[in-house]
Amino acid sequence: MGIFRRIAGVAGSLCLFWAALDATAADTKAPWWKHALVYEIYPRSFGDSNGDGVGDLNGINAHLDDLEKLGVDAIWIAPMYPSPQADFGYDISDYQAIDPQYGTMADFDRLQQAAKQRHIHVILDMVMNHTSDHHAWFVESASSRNNPKSDWYVWNDGIPADTAHLSAVQRRNIHDGKAPPNNWESMFGGSAWQWVPARQQFYYHRFYIQQPDLNWRNPDVEKAMFGAIRFWLDRGVDGFRLDAISVLFEDTELRNDPERPGTNAQGEPNLNYLYSDKLPEVHGVMRRLRALVDSYPGQRVLIGETYEPNIKLLDEWYGTKEAPQLQLPMNLQLGFGWQASFDATWFRKRLQESQQVHGQPLLVVDNHDNPRSIDRFGDGTHDVERAKVVAAALLTSRAVALTYYGAPIGMTTATPTRVEDVRDPVGVTGWPKDKGRDGERTPMQWTSGAQAGFSTSPKTWLPVNPNHATVNVEDEWKQPESLLNWHRQLIALRRDNPALRDGAMTFLDNDNPNVLVYRREGTRPVLVMLNFSGSAQPVPKRLMQGKIRTLAASEDSLREVATLDEASLPAYSAWVVTSD
Ligand code: GLC
Repeated sequence: MGIFRRIAGVAGSLCLFWAALDATAADTKAPWWKHALVYEIYPRSFGDSNGDGVGDLNGINAHLDDLEKLGVDAIWIAPMYPSPQADFGYDISDYQAIDPQYGTMADFDRLQQAAKQRHIHVILDMVMNHTSDHHAWFVESASSRNNPKSDWYVWNDGIPADTAHLSAVQRRNIHDGKAPPNNWESMFGGSAWQWVPARQQFYYHRFYIQQPDLNWRNPDVEKAMFGAIRFWLDRGVDGFRLDAISVLFEDTELRNDPERPGTNAQGEPNLNYLYSDKLPEVHGVMRRLRALVDSYPGQRVLIGETYEPNIKLLDEWYGTKEAPQLQLPMNLQLGFGWQASFDATWFRKRLQESQQVHGQPLLVVDNHDNPRSIDRFGDGTHDVERAKVVAAALLTSRAVALTYYGAPIGMTTATPTRVEDVRDPVGVTGWPKDKGRDGERTPMQWTSGAQAGFSTSPKTWLPVNPNHATVNVEDEWKQPESLLNWHRQLIALRRDNPALRDGAMTFLDNDNPNVLVYRREGTRPVLVMLNFSGSAQPVPKRLMQGKIRTLAASEDSLREVATLDEASLPAYSAWVVTSD
């Protein structure tokens, strides 16, 4: 920006020349993560190197070439620490080791080194809100009321069982004449309080019973958790994805969360998490954590799991210039907002909003907790075409883009059809309304061969989706028009094209209900046109004069078009052009 400002008064052409130089200068200074494509790996499901049916670190290592070819800048590895696997790794029993089923610390070091050789950064998942109930901290804490860690978790005596106005959830959880202190519910169903006879007290668990919440009001907890984070920073990891951070703190008075109309998937009253979510104290922890990672060389990054209903709340997670928090809180609205749909107006509104934050936006449309976007945004007939449009929106926006293993090839959600096949506990308790998250966690589909090339074992932890016969990496690399090659092309484009890297987004033709259009500004602006409708649509007038050059087109017919005059966009198509 500096150079451009200083010469802003001189002749236009000179301005453009300097602006171009300026963009390059700004880019070289930008931290590595600013334009990154981050790829989430669910380690159980990515590659199984030892044939036990479960993925492992060496299995990730074995597939790094594919990730490099795709253009991945960073992998986020979902928890691979020792864990009883009640929540498949999100219940950590040791923060400074590797679960033997995923490998050894030497495997981790080798993976990190191999990734670095390919310019792929490594981001770990950090679960700060809770540990496993098998973690030594909890075992000690639960053993008595007066041990050194007795206050490391959220313990409470409960209230007399005959207290008036107990909620149904509280009434179902009475022990030794005591009811839980309030109506709080676990995200996975039932009361969020669990009785421990040894202490004659309840502990709080926002998630599964096996995931007791740490007491972040105790400074020793922060010290211990920051110690674990240092352990990995010292080992060279490039950053963390912070799990469930919004719920680190609870109301000191443990007030009841107000009820909202209706019931959740587990059949319990909906609550407004006024006293159990997004307490302001969490931002202090984020500031201190940011100071910690900033004290390390090499632009380490903090990514937050921040489900927020609006952009103003999301913006708070960036902090301020003087007191920064996360570099990249996730914008999960576009992909997972409750009204999210394959619709030009939805995408326009959410993408416009995504730009209204103080830092770099991060867009997410797929993860291990939600049905895959190809199904959510598909119509059952044009799923791949629609997925190409969604990928184009994700990869041509001014944002860090996060993708999930399998999404670039169009892996679909394979939800179990029988409750006895469900592995995610929430799918058992919630059946059939909530079938759990197994569907989006099935083994990666590398080939059309046995077990999709994921494993040599005849039985894998979740079954391989039979559609690997056609949906797989090996075949899609060979097909120029595949979803995988579409991703590869767009990823390369956003890396190389200065306007797509850094240029502001100007939204055009804003009342168009069918076609989403935006221009990425720069000395050579780039125009993105996305037809969300099932019929051909005229290209809006006066978007770009003169001859154009296609940078990417999801439909062959678009590639030869020389000007935008009279051009039309085929149904469900994406077209990225610049002036020639
Ligand atoms: C996050 C994770 C999810 C996990 C939960 C509890 O939402 O993404 O998979 O179950 O936190 O750790």
